[in-house]
Amino acid sequence: MTLMKKLIIISLFLLSQINCAFAQNLSDDERMEWWREARFGMFIHWGLYAEPAGIYKGDTVRGNAEWIMDKLDIPIAEYEQFAAKFNPVKFNADEWVSIAKNAGMKYMVITSKHHDGFCLWDSEVTDYDIMDASPFKRDILKELSIACKKEGIKLCFYHSITDWHHPDAQAPLFPNYNAGQRDQSVSNPNFPKYYENYFKPQVKELLTQYGEVGVMWFDGEWIPDYTTEMGKEMYQLILDTQPNIIVNNRVDKGRNGMKGMNKEGNYVGDFGTPEKEVPETGLSTDWESCLTMNNTWGFKATDHNWKSTEVLLHNLIDIVSKGGNLLLNVGPTAEGLIPSPSVERLKEMGDWVKVNGESIYGAGLSPFKKPDWGRFTSKQGVLYAHIFDWPEDGKLLLEGNIKVKKANLLSGSGKKLKMDTVEEGTIIYLPKKAPDAIATVVKLALLENVK
Ligand code: GLC
Repeated sequence: MTLMKKLIIISLFLLSQINCAFAQNLSDDERMEWWREARFGMFIHWGLYAEPAGIYKGDTVRGNAEWIMDKLDIPIAEYEQFAAKFNPVKFNADEWVSIAKNAGMKYMVITSKHHDGFCLWDSEVTDYDIMDASPFKRDILKELSIACKKEGIKLCFYHSITDWHHPDAQAPLFPNYNAGQRDQSVSNPNFPKYYENYFKPQVKELLTQYGEVGVMWFDGEWIPDYTTEMGKEMYQLILDTQPNIIVNNRVDKGRNGMKGMNKEGNYVGDFGTPEKEVPETGLSTDWESCLTMNNTWGFKATDHNWKSTEVLLHNLIDIVSKGGNLLLNVGPTAEGLIPSPSVERLKEMGDWVKVNGESIYGAGLSPFKKPDWGRFTSKQGVLYAHIFDWPEDGKLLLEGNIKVKKANLLSGSGKKLKMDTVEEGTIIYLPKKAPDAIATVVKLALLENVK
């Protein structure tokens, strides 16, 4: 090697060390910054279960369609046949990303692998993936990573710890793949082998082949064979690989049921994960509610129980008013399309967010009591009043000691509003008709700073 070459190699090495050092210096708050600003993301449950779409041999699965293999006791060899069929020719990464972006979402969490074990990328440790087992032969995660990068959306991965297909994980437990969720004595002593030789390398692949990953979002940690030691090691391994990343609390064993926040104890993970529910009040730690738009996560042909745009927007506002994020799910079809009821609702949510995003992005918990007519969010000395129930007499009462300097409509005209101080608090005089029937926002500059 020439001296020049040696020098180049040494300086490249030193540069990489500097980079690493910088990245590792991020404090936890700095790591969480983009996520706290973002407040709204898209969850995507997509995999082989989209093929049966909730129905197998005449039986319809109860509840979540992505559980069909377990719920309807489909043997592995039979379930595998969905892979040979899975050919989502209408999948268009740019389109999915633009649906998310137009909804006002800032990140996207896709199921790289769900409990059924099928992988949406070209994994080196298995053939049970989109490139080797399906006719589609396109790396879905790669295409999404390119589309997300172009549009400034953070790509994130949901990854299941439970694996009903792998022989060292839950596969031998058939017909009760998921017994461990109910009965902690049902286990596979080979699980450490799966953890070392399969799970770990897969997570490494996800973190090294698709650029910067926003969040690693784990699930299926309830099985008895997965231990808190594994979770802690996994968390460290992830941060060593991508120092800026955020990891949900299901990487460890602390989650307290569907409420999603950790029990008392020493657990790793950066945020809590309430599932299909929103906490009653604000919480002092970071959290994200994941919600469905109908009842299921994975696509289910018979589930038409769609929430209205009003309910979904109220959910978003409610969550932000309590300091959390909303991860709102879509379950694309086997052809690769996000169902049109989801697309319509997301478009309508986006129309609202375009006008009122100031009250959502980077906003959070206010120190004031939840008002009867809606919700408050707050950000840097400004309080945002979201009015769900428009007062018939046009008078909005801000109860208590809220000292308002100036009130403006955010939605509609941006008009300045008159105010009065009364015994119960402050009255804001509103127009007769709500500019936005779902939620009109009044921006309240305060005399005394709120966080
Ligand atoms: C539940 C469901 C699972 C889904 C997850 C999302 O655990 O069982 O299928 O992926 O919620 O949080």
